[in-house]
Amino acid sequence: MSDSASPSPVRPGPVSSSNNRGPGGPDHAAAMDRMYRLTRHVYDVTRRYYLLGRDRLLDRVATARDSATLEVGCGTARNLIKLAQRPEPGLLYGLDASHEMLETAARSIERSLGLPQAPLPSGGGDREPIVLRQGLAEQLDARRMFGRDAPFDTIFFSYCLSMIPTWPGALEAAMANLRPGGHLLIVDFWDQADLPTVFAAGLKRWLSLFHVHYRPEVHEALVDIGRSGRGDVQFESVARRYAYIASIRKT
Ligand SMILES: C[S@@+](CC[C@H](N)C(=O)[O-])C[C@H]1O[C@@H](n2cnc3c(N)ncnc32)[C@H](O)[C@@H]1O
Repeated sequence: MSDSASPSPVRPGPVSSSNNRGPGGPDHAAAMDRMYRLTRHVYDVTRRYYLLGRDRLLDRVATARDSATLEVGCGTARNLIKLAQRPEPGLLYGLDASHEMLETAARSIERSLGLPQAPLPSGGGDREPIVLRQGLAEQLDARRMFGRDAPFDTIFFSYCLSMIPTWPGALEAAMANLRPGGHLLIVDFWDQADLPTVFAAGLKRWLSLFHVHYRPEVHEALVDIGRSGRGDVQFESVARRYAYIASIRKT
């Protein structure tokens, strides 16, 4: 089976897999691997205190027996595991640039759900509760990466878009892989405009250590999706503009 037909969540080589096509791809994936190599082991415990709004975003993800939901930048699969615990989770998919994170995700899924999570590509994903694949958000391709003929019903980014230098490509790829009427959801750091100035300045400096940057241009791009008629766009604030949740219903 070729790499492109069945991308693997596990690390096939020292740097990255063939899912990172184009200039900069393997570099970004390798940077994510370096960043999370050690921290992935304490990720879920530490992040619960400052990745606010994730559960509120999950409340807005509608699943049904035959729905298809993708998290881009799924990390340890914390969010997908929560969805999988619903009575009707539908089909769940996770994409991440980091092989390291995906290894932790696969172990966490098996531990939390008590179901076998394939460590190697299985092709159809029939026995996997959550189908994990390594690759870059900006190169998302439902067919090539997940073997799906149909686009997704819901795609969400949870504290991922702010880490991607080529975020416009990630946004476009998500829109292209969403069915008409499908739902794109984003939770990410906002401008902290309603928080005390000293706290907001310190937070921005600290986040930059983790390659995380508030990007006003992302908001503008999302507003433009609404203006151009490509989607119905709504924003809500989490904890005094610490974070935002954007909801885009594709037209
Ligand atoms: C801050 S973590 C968030 C993990 C998870 N979404 C959560 O809410 O806990 C960001 C994740 O995005 C992934 N990531 C960063 N850039 C990416 C890209 N270009 N394509 C896919 N995943 C990416 C990282 O490897 C990391 O696992």
